[in-house]
Amino acid sequence: MQPGRKTRSPLWVSTPAMASIPGNRDLTERLTSVYIQTYGCQMNIADSRTVETILLDAGYRLVDTPEAAKVILVNTCAVRESAQTRALGQISSLSRLKTQNGTRVIGVLGCIPQEMREALAHERPFLDLVVGPDDYRQLPYLIEERLASPPGEPARIATLLRRSELYDDIPPHHRGGVTAFVTITRGCDKFCSYCVVPYTRGRERSRPLPSIVAEAEKLVGKGAREIMLLGQNVDAYEWEDNGFPDCLKAVASVDGLERVRFLTSHPQDTGQDLFDVMAADAKICPYLHLPVQSGSNRILEMMNRGYTRERYLEIIGAAKRTVPGLAFSTDIIVGFPSETERDFEETLDLVHQVRFDTAFMFRYSPRPRTKAARLTDDVPEAEKIRRLEKLISLQLKIGREQNLKQLGRVDDVLIEGISPKNNDMWIGRTPDHRPVVFSQNGEMPGQVVAVKLAELRGFTFVGLRA
Ligand code: 5AD
Ligand code: SF4
Repeated sequence: MQPGRKTRSPLWVSTPAMASIPGNRDLTERLTSVYIQTYGCQMNIADSRTVETILLDAGYRLVDTPEAAKVILVNTCAVRESAQTRALGQISSLSRLKTQNGTRVIGVLGCIPQEMREALAHERPFLDLVVGPDDYRQLPYLIEERLASPPGEPARIATLLRRSELYDDIPPHHRGGVTAFVTITRGCDKFCSYCVVPYTRGRERSRPLPSIVAEAEKLVGKGAREIMLLGQNVDAYEWEDNGFPDCLKAVASVDGLERVRFLTSHPQDTGQDLFDVMAADAKICPYLHLPVQSGSNRILEMMNRGYTRERYLEIIGAAKRTVPGLAFSTDIIVGFPSETERDFEETLDLVHQVRFDTAFMFRYSPRPRTKAARLTDDVPEAEKIRRLEKLISLQLKIGREQNLKQLGRVDDVLIEGISPKNNDMWIGRTPDHRPVVFSQNGEMPGQVVAVKLAELRGFTFVGLRA
């Protein structure tokens, strides 16, 4: 939304009674403007949507640029050092906007506040708010208080981890678009030795199933055609007698919904029950993101992952046998403390065996408070980079081969919108999440069109109407 443009503000949706008062459009422009910038994973994007609802309900309006905003919030990620450095760089660059207008409120949300607390505010005195992932309900009060207080006061810090906070009663703000996120679990109890998430997002908790289904129904009512169920470990979902497969089945049965996807699965908790549900329901997309992290049993044990490479390969085998056309993606870390060339080769070998369609690959970085941070980070940086480059080039080759195998296939493509590279074309995805561009013929985003995957350009298919 552009400042000063008299478009229909989301506020009119949340408080429709106000629309009947003459002159209220001008009032809209006088509402405090908020800009939210989001770093990190889909969970963080979903959290930002929750924050948007909290602020819209409290009478704020959203704007598209930090320059246009009275209140700037940066939702951060601390999972890897590189992600944290990027977000901290952006936060520091906001000091310029504070200098321009001292009454602006600048806040940092998410995992970095949880991780750095006082240090964050101390090192960046221009910050007004430092708020962790379980304290978003307080945001309207914290912002109001800050707007009313004299400049130069120390930042307000709210970083309690609340075991019971699920934001269950706060539907995420749907900005339109074909896909909507629904968070089903928060936190993580797995304590992988390298991972900061259990410390920044707290204990694992699941939302009641009826409210997940009600939220999905509401989002479909607002135009969403695809729901992405989110959790650090969706397989840990547990509400009354329902596990994740029950949750998936229940959401897939929502009328008007075209597709359901989910992120992220854990090899220790996933299995045949899930694959059976996936195979039985065409609305559940044949796509499994199953992080392996390493192909070496010694490293997997040090990582506290709770499975061996043999067990991982067994799970992949069962999934492939049960769900036809299933696509796989994974996360892999190279250069974990003490990782030898032999350990790394075992990772390469596993990648060869599974033939992932996509992989997210990272260099290990020690994270504060984690168990692995007490180990010597002894793989030299140059060696981590060499291993990462080798792994990426192998995966790129395999990913391309996997894509080439799809050529000639006819599949349903869910239209997401206009292709950013060619405004005359639609861009959409197959059920197994492959991007396809194809010509427009009077359809609308959200519609499904049968398309033949005719050509591969980079990682995107060019489709022909079947
Ligand atoms: N160093 C490198 N990568 C990490 N990840 C999590 N913690 C670290 C770390 N300390 C990766 C894992 C995880 C993904 C979200 O980020 O692969 O699955
Ligand atoms: Fe981190 Fe492991 Fe939990 Fe994933 S499962 S969020 S890697 S602790």
